[in-house]
Amino acid sequence: MDNIKILFMGDIVGSPGREAVKVILPKLKEEYKLDFIVANGENAAGGSGLTPKVCMELFDCGIDVLTSGDHIWRKKEVFEIIDKDLRILRPLNLSKFSPGRGWGIYTLKDGKTKIAVINLLGRVFMEPVDCPFLKVQEEIENISAQTKIILVDIHAEATSEKIALGWFLDGQVSSVLGTHTHVQTADERILPKGTAYITDVGMCGAFDSVIGRKIENVIKRFITNIPQRFEVAEENVNLEAVFLEIDRFTGKAVSIQRIKRKLTSYE
Ligand SMILES: [Fe+2]
Ligand SMILES: [Fe+2]
Repeated sequence: MDNIKILFMGDIVGSPGREAVKVILPKLKEEYKLDFIVANGENAAGGSGLTPKVCMELFDCGIDVLTSGDHIWRKKEVFEIIDKDLRILRPLNLSKFSPGRGWGIYTLKDGKTKIAVINLLGRVFMEPVDCPFLKVQEEIENISAQTKIILVDIHAEATSEKIALGWFLDGQVSSVLGTHTHVQTADERILPKGTAYITDVGMCGAFDSVIGRKIENVIKRFITNIPQRFEVAEENVNLEAVFLEIDRFTGKAVSIQRIKRKLTSYE
């Protein structure tokens, strides 16, 4: 039987990012014959956070699971759905008192193939949370007893922390994919024991920006040290993602390919 074909999209930033998903995802679905689609949605609502309406809009585009990160609680409406909708994940290594869940297992349309998605948050240059390495290690046995196909989103600032987690989980999961820095890195590879890895998948949003925000206010913030309103940028919108092929029996990665598509070339 064929390998499982998965698309994982980087942080969707505001309505320009959602528009890119809405227009481009159906084409990618056809082009790559996708079985399963994941996206990091932590910036999807107004550039920060998630709301029920935005989640439903993204699920209607064909996304199966939304991961998140440090901005998960930015919109209070997310509390209405985080405990109910199993397709929305928050980082596993947040406080044990956080609502929601850090991993889930999802069944493909064939009714039998199961895929696990785990969402982790880094600690270097970020708010304090539990250790992502130890936290995932605690859960991995339970998860791999249910399926060998396991995708990990490591939402982190430091390249070193993400690479270290890739090596730490090599052979235990199908992929370790970095998010949060919003800039696609050119280091995609399959590690020796079969885990697909990339330091950052990139973002779905405006490329003429500072990681998805309007340029002027970000520069002002750096120059003055005074907090500014960061508005979502709208120019030169891309969809950035990786395409993965995973062996359905062993859970090992067969290929990882970077994707970067311009919204204007579809309009
Ligand atoms: Fe983030
Ligand atoms: Fe982000």
